[in-house]
Parts: sequence; structure tokens; C-alpha cells
Amino acid sequence: LFSAVEMAPRDPILGLNEQFAADTNPNKVNLGVGVYFDDGGKLPLLQCVQAAEKTMMDKPSARGYLPIDGIAAYDAAVKSLVFGNESEPVKSGRVATVQAIGGTGGLKIGADFLKRLNPDATVLISDPSWENHRALFTNAGFKVDTYAYYDAEKRGVNFDGMLASLNAAAPGTIAVLHACCHNPTGYDISAAQWDQVVAVVKTRGLTPFLDMAYQGFGHGIAEDGAVIAKFVAAGLTFFVSTSFSKSFSLYGERVGALSVLCQNAEEASRVLSQLKIVIRTNYSNPPIHGGAVVAAVLNNPELRALWEKELGEMRVRIKAMRQKLVDGLKAAGVKQDMGFITSQIGMFSYSGLTKDQMVRLRSEFGVYGTDTGRMCVAALNSKNIDYVCQAIAKVV
Ligand code: LMR
Repeated sequence: LFSAVEMAPRDPILGLNEQFAADTNPNKVNLGVGVYFDDGGKLPLLQCVQAAEKTMMDKPSARGYLPIDGIAAYDAAVKSLVFGNESEPVKSGRVATVQAIGGTGGLKIGADFLKRLNPDATVLISDPSWENHRALFTNAGFKVDTYAYYDAEKRGVNFDGMLASLNAAAPGTIAVLHACCHNPTGYDISAAQWDQVVAVVKTRGLTPFLDMAYQGFGHGIAEDGAVIAKFVAAGLTFFVSTSFSKSFSLYGERVGALSVLCQNAEEASRVLSQLKIVIRTNYSNPPIHGGAVVAAVLNNPELRALWEKELGEMRVRIKAMRQKLVDGLKAAGVKQDMGFITSQIGMFSYSGLTKDQMVRLRSEFGVYGTDTGRMCVAALNSKNIDYVCQAIAKVV
């Protein structure tokens, strides 16, 4: 049965973790996967999470099955966070939200549901996009193509190209859009450009699927989520996947969600019933712990304020590291102006380094980024930054 099974390639992002773990270089630095580490190089366990967990431990509860769509208080908190507590979509009950196994799970539930609704649709992802977007939608059975996004010469977004690609798409095409902190480039479009994207999506009859994995890492929670209101105001129906891996530093708990904005509450209940079938036939129902922690934090004003503060600190530290990287590269002798790193936002910097240079960084210096030149600046700290700058200076 298995004799003809081929060896699959390593995952371009998570595969680097395996390689990193096996690397014996004492100076190794992992800038591959999108994970935030504090200035001491530690993965933070947020205080808001610890406080919520302490309350849960003080009153331990038994672990029955969750409903298929997850914890009701969690789904409600996600709706409020994504659309706004007092927003018309939430008040009218036309959002169908399900708890998902991370943001990836939210994307997959949406992809499987869309495959039933519109099996022949093409999925458009940005060029480039998060490596797993193409794989995930391809595995869900879709043809995956790209819309123009990154302009390497300009070091920014090829916005005319993006609009042209979306304008050329057939009605029903699923457009996967990064709501904020574009992964991998770190370049977002402006609010005015979003207005134009929303207009094209509407005119062309595209199905928007917003991936919101980094809310709070760009300019702030509300600022990063502002794009949602634009799609709502345009009268569109659409999908949003949410991840709390990064914003709660709960990577291993796999806490995410899928929200689908429908035309009315009755439609939302039918959509929800179908999402539940997708979930039931994949993994039955979600796990409790991560969702319970996030719900406890988001639904408690004090813990929520603490979360916003802690998330803000992560955001500010990443920005400081961007500046240190620019200054450090200059000091290490890099002639090229690397100032573009501070105009990127979120966890990543698309460094412009070639695959060969990234391979050298790994093999000669133990500095891990993806082959595409993406580096996770959220893993830089005051101890490893000089080493990383010197390593980069030697390969460019
Ligand atoms: C990343 O892009 O590094 C993160 O989203 C982690 C992942 O699952 O790929």
C-alpha cells in the first residue's frame, strides 16, 4: 500500500523549526516561524492568560464535549472583537461564528464550506502570500492563482497591479485578503486603497475571505480591524478567519475562529448549520482550554484592558527591534539602505535577501528565516540583534 508513497517536502515554515532544533550552533537564532519572543528570548505567557487560568484552576471544571461550534461566550467575544459589540451585524444576528483550531482551522472550515457552495471557483491569494494559503485551498480542492501584490523594486505594494488582478477575476472568485500585517511582506495597503479594493470586490462579485491573524500587531486592535467595517458598509457578505495564537501568545492552544457575515439572521443560522457539518466530519468539536481562556479575558473588562496593554507592549517592542535592525545593519557595514524595514509592520520583514543568502545565513551562522527572505523581527532581542546584523552583513 505504501511502497509508492513519495517523501513530501518539509513545510517551508514549520519545517524550519525541526531544522533549527537539530542545529548545534550555540548562537542560533530562529527568525523562521512567526512567533513573538520577549527581550530575554522567552516565549511570553501573558499575565492576562495566567490570571484567567488561575481563576479556572481555583474552580476546576469537568471536561465534557463542547458544542460543535465551540464555547458560546467565546464565539460571542470573537464577533464583538471582529465586528464591534454594538455593530449592526452583531446586533442583527447575521454573523455565523464558530470556534476553530487556530486561524488555519478557521481558513480550512471556510474553504471546505466554500467548496460545497462554489466548487468551480478559483481562489486568488496575494503574490506572495502566507505559504500555507496555497496549500490549504489547493487541498480543499480549489484552483489557486495569485493577484499582484509585492513590488520588489519599489519595496511596497504594487497597488495598480493588485486592482488590475482583482478586476480581471471572474465573478465568484474567492479573494483571500490579509486584513492587516501582510504575511510575508509586512506591507499593508492604506485605508483609501482598501476602499478601492472593496469597490472592486463588490463590482466584480468576488467572495472576500479576510485572514486576520495579526490583529493588534500593526497599529492597534481597532486600527488593524478597521477594514472589516469597510466590507460591512459596502453591503458585502464575507468570511473572516481569526487567530489568537500571536495576540494571546497561545500558539500551542490552537485558538481561532471563522466568522461568516450573512445577509440576515435566518441566513446566518443556515450557514452555521453547514459549518457545523464541516466541523463534525473533520474533528467533531473543538478543545476547551484555549477558547475558555480567551473568552475569560475578552469578556472581563479588567483582563481585557491587561491584554490590550500586553499586546501593545509586544507591538512597541517589535517596532523598536525594526529600528535596531536598520541601525545595526548599517553599523555592521551593509551599504544598502535598509530603512524600508521600519516602514513594514507586523511580525515580519521581507528582507529582499535571496534564497542563497538565506541558506548561507542558516548553514554558516545558524540564523533561520524562510527561503523567500522573510524574517520574524518579533524574535529579535537586545542579545541576538548584533549577531544577526553581522551575519546578514556577511552574506549580502
Ligand atoms: C507563520 O507564518 O510563520 C505563522 O503563521 C505560523 C505558521 O503556521 O506558519
